[in-house]
Parts: sequence; C-alpha cells; structure tokens
Amino acid sequence: MVNLAAGSQTTTKKVAPIHQQMDQFAVQDQQLLIAGFKLDEIARLINQDVFYAYDLNVIEKQIENFKQHIPQSIKLHYAIKANPYPALVNAMVTKVDGFDVASHKEMLLALQSGMPASEISFAGPAKQEVEITAAIEAGITLHVESLTELERAISLSKCTNKQAKIAFRVNPAFELKGAGMKMGGGPKQFGIDEEILLDKLPKMDFSQFEFVGFHIFWGSQNLKPDAIMNAHNCTFELADRLCAVTPVKVKTINIGGGFGVPYFAGETRLNLAPIGENLSSLLTQYSQLTELELVIELGRYLVAEAGIYACKVTDIKTSRGHTYIMTNGGLHHHLSNSGNFGQVIRKNYPVAIANKMNEAVIQEPVSVVGPLCTPLDTLADKFKLPQAEIGDWFVVYQSGAYGATASPQDFLGHPHVTEILL
Ligand SMILES: Cc1ncc(COP(=O)(O)O)c(C=O)c1O
Repeated sequence: MVNLAAGSQTTTKKVAPIHQQMDQFAVQDQQLLIAGFKLDEIARLINQDVFYAYDLNVIEKQIENFKQHIPQSIKLHYAIKANPYPALVNAMVTKVDGFDVASHKEMLLALQSGMPASEISFAGPAKQEVEITAAIEAGITLHVESLTELERAISLSKCTNKQAKIAFRVNPAFELKGAGMKMGGGPKQFGIDEEILLDKLPKMDFSQFEFVGFHIFWGSQNLKPDAIMNAHNCTFELADRLCAVTPVKVKTINIGGGFGVPYFAGETRLNLAPIGENLSSLLTQYSQLTELELVIELGRYLVAEAGIYACKVTDIKTSRGHTYIMTNGGLHHHLSNSGNFGQVIRKNYPVAIANKMNEAVIQEPVSVVGPLCTPLDTLADKFKLPQAEIGDWFVVYQSGAYGATASPQDFLGHPHVTEILL
C-alpha cells in the first residue's frame, strides 16, 4: 500500500526514495525505467527531451486489479477525457468493454479505434447540435443532460432517419461524501435532477427514441472506500426507483466511476477489495438489476499511475538563499501538476530526479520551475531532492491522466509536448 507520506517536505526525518512508494516503475543503476527504457533512450527514440511517457504494463495492472475485485458482471468503460493520446486509446480497445467520450473529437477517436459504436457513450453538458447529430449518425449512446437536449436529439434524429440512442444522465439527490470532485447532488450543470426524471418518466413518449437506460455519475478522484461504497448503495437504490417508474425496458445502468489515485502527501492507493464486496452484496440485494448491463466508467484510475512527465534541468540559481531548479518543462504542458487544475491549495505531486533515483536528498528544499513568466509555473515547491545538476532529468509521477490535453499548450508559444506509449 503506497503512502505518500514522504512527500511532506517540512520534516527533517530521512526521506525514503520516492520509488519505494511509487513502485509502478523499475529503477536500475540510479535510473528510472519506463517500460524498461531509460529516459535517455526514450529521448533518443522520440528526438525530444520534454515528454510524457506512458507504460502500457501499468495500465494493464490497474485493469487487472479492477477485474480481480469488481464483480465480473459489471463492465468497465474507459473515459477518454483522462488521456486521449491515440495510441493509448487504440491500445485500450481490447482491454476494456467500452468508451465514454465527451466531445465530437473524442467520439471520432473512439470510433476510429475500432471500439464498436454500441459500446460508446457520449456525456457532457451543453452538447452542440453537430455533436448530437454525429452521435445519432454513428449509433452511439447519448447521455442526455437536460430535457431540451432530449427534444433536440429527437428532432435531429428525424434528419438522419435513425433513432437516437438515449440514456438519461441523472443528477442524484445524494452527494459523494469526503474529499474528491463532487459531480452530483444539489444544483449541478450535469444531468437531470432525479426528482424531475422520477416525475417525467412515467408519462414520457418512448416511441420517439431508442431508450438505453441511466447514467448516474456522482464524482471523481475519491480515495475513500467508504465514500464510494456509500455512493454505490445510493446509486443502486436510485436505479431501482428509476426502473420502477420507467414504462419501457431499461437495458443499461452506468453506476458512475470516481476511483481516485494518490497524488499528494498522506494519500494511499484505493483499496478495491471492500468496494467489490459491497458491489457483490448489492447485486444480491437488487437481483432485478442484475438482468441489466451495469457499467463503471473510469478515467484516471486506469491511466494516471502509468504516466510520467519528464523534462531537463537547464539552469540552477539561488535567490536570497532559496534554490530554483529551472527546466524546459512547465505549466503549459502539465497544468494539473502546477496546481491550477481544480486544486484549492497547491500541493506537490510525487517528483524525482530520474537519473539519481537512489541518491539521498539534500536537506535544503528547492523549487522546480518552468520557462513561463508567472509564479504559477511551478513543477515542485519547497521539495527535497537529491543534488540537482544541469542536464538531469526531472520527472513528475502520476501524470498519465489530465496531462497534455488538460494544459494550455499554446500559452507563451513554447513548443508543445510529445507523448509516447511504451
Ligand atoms: C461523465 C464523466 N465520466 C468520467 C469521468 C472521469 O473521471 P476520472 O478520470 O476521475 O475517473 C468524468 C470526469 O470528469 C466525467 O465527468
């Protein structure tokens, strides 16, 4: 069980090498290896010294862990938004049961990967008419997020001569407990409030579209099994009530996702064992729902741990006693690591000098920064690292999700980042 306690950099205690905690990658002769490759080798391969590298073996292990604990009858969908790098998406086709997309571009990526349209769903508020039309044309399921969107899909389907495949995204009344991103409960821009649906479903005209089912998505990045189990209990209870008032056959219920990964000091990897046991009991308790297709939709849990962001130390300077390690990478490539993608207080991701993996850290904390003219461009703040030198590799772990495509790559006009799946 990983505990990122050593990420706390105020302690004077001996700091354990980061790879004893972040053990998904091997280390050999001081060098971090991604899928067996040193960073120098990857750099020569792609002719770049700033990059994201993703290790397919680590993704496979995450999927295996899911399959080991979660009841087999529950399908696994990959939410492409977490990492839409085409080689990665293509590699996922045979490893998961379906894809969730959030835009027209992601939809085309999913279709071109070879994933059957019947296993692709499209969620997201404020879908545009072109997106709805394309989804109907392709035969993928639209997770409609308002009753207006339903009407729009019905009307657009008349031009395509195909019925729209519709699932209702539900904004549940319950809320995910504990930390993490809450995406259901209370007023939300996502989905249709459960009270509205429970009222409308009994009298709805289902002849106008192909009804698929419900999408009950309540949150993201949660590391507390109890909170996820509670959300699952509430989801099954709500699904049961929704099915009871729906006058036609419900085929699929997407029971959400929310499985998190440890990023910060004190966080530990999510234990799926109790979550799986709880799901098994729910399947027994709500045996009528086992006749339907049940889906869990995950992004970061599958890919975040598999990725590193790597850049080179280009300068080291001291300002009034504090050391700044300057790099050729930065916020424009990795916004979430900089703390500007939904964090309230900036915290350090796990980071390392990838060619000095077993070297002891020096006691003086340093800050690692990028080339942008803003103090926000911080890759690690007041962090204890081994003695850095120009030419060293600086790496950010847990970078396989919400990295390159979640970053403002054009900001200040520096080159875009390269990605590679190994
Ligand atoms: C509808 C939907 N599905 C899946 C996800 C993926 O979340 P995560 O990457 O945390 O698993 C999100 C995240 O915002 C989402 O909104």
